[in-house]
Amino acid sequence: MSDSKLIETTKDFVKTTLENAEGGHDWFHVLRVYNNTMLIAKTENVDATVVALAALLHDIADSKFHDGDEAIGPMKAREFLFSQNVDSTVIEHVVKIIENISFSKSLDKKNQWTSDELKVVQDADRLDALGAIGIARAFNYGGFKNRKMFDPGIPPNLNMTKEEYKKSTAPTINHFYEKLLLLKSKMNTKTGKKIAEQRHKYMEEYLEQFYAEWDGKR
Ligand code: ADP
Ligand code: NI
Repeated sequence: MSDSKLIETTKDFVKTTLENAEGGHDWFHVLRVYNNTMLIAKTENVDATVVALAALLHDIADSKFHDGDEAIGPMKAREFLFSQNVDSTVIEHVVKIIENISFSKSLDKKNQWTSDELKVVQDADRLDALGAIGIARAFNYGGFKNRKMFDPGIPPNLNMTKEEYKKSTAPTINHFYEKLLLLKSKMNTKTGKKIAEQRHKYMEEYLEQFYAEWDGKR
């Protein structure tokens, strides 16, 4: 199968699989990450097929929505790519990226694996956690999980282990300090860093306005 046919088939597979997904982890999230990936890849020396497939399949079965099961996403991706007769080296690379892309995985001090292709897709995924879209996704996820928006009595926890992070039920505003505002300094690529700067600034302004309104000052 040609590469462009494979990408189209993969898009259709992801769209169908994520039909009922939570709004922040749905097909449109995947599409934004795919577009970010292709933009970042332009100035990086990476395998275009690997990054495209990894971007499209990275949230095919997020453990958050599957009782914490971290094996199901990589497994679904592997099965799909195998059914499309994709080269086994490409399959293994894409699966490795899916296993290692998440923020929670980056909190896991051991078993760190990386590649230039992972760095590109990871930046693309992180960009979608920032800025106006990042704010919308965080509150959508918080609502989906019935979390409080904000509670001045529950301070953010800045030193969470991977397990604590995954179990947290803290208010959504805490997530800004526990993850979103930490992303800027974790970006891997030049293009990713540049876009992250602007989105980070926008979130800081948002938080300032949020607290001012909370206190009735604006
Ligand atoms: P990963 O899936 O990369 O480990 P997250 O679990 O933080 O990273 O989830 C990705 C996105 O889901 C976040 O960028 C955010 O939009 C949303 N999200 C995850 N956990 C929370 C949370 N506790 N509060 C609000 N939003 C969250
Ligand atoms: Ni994602």
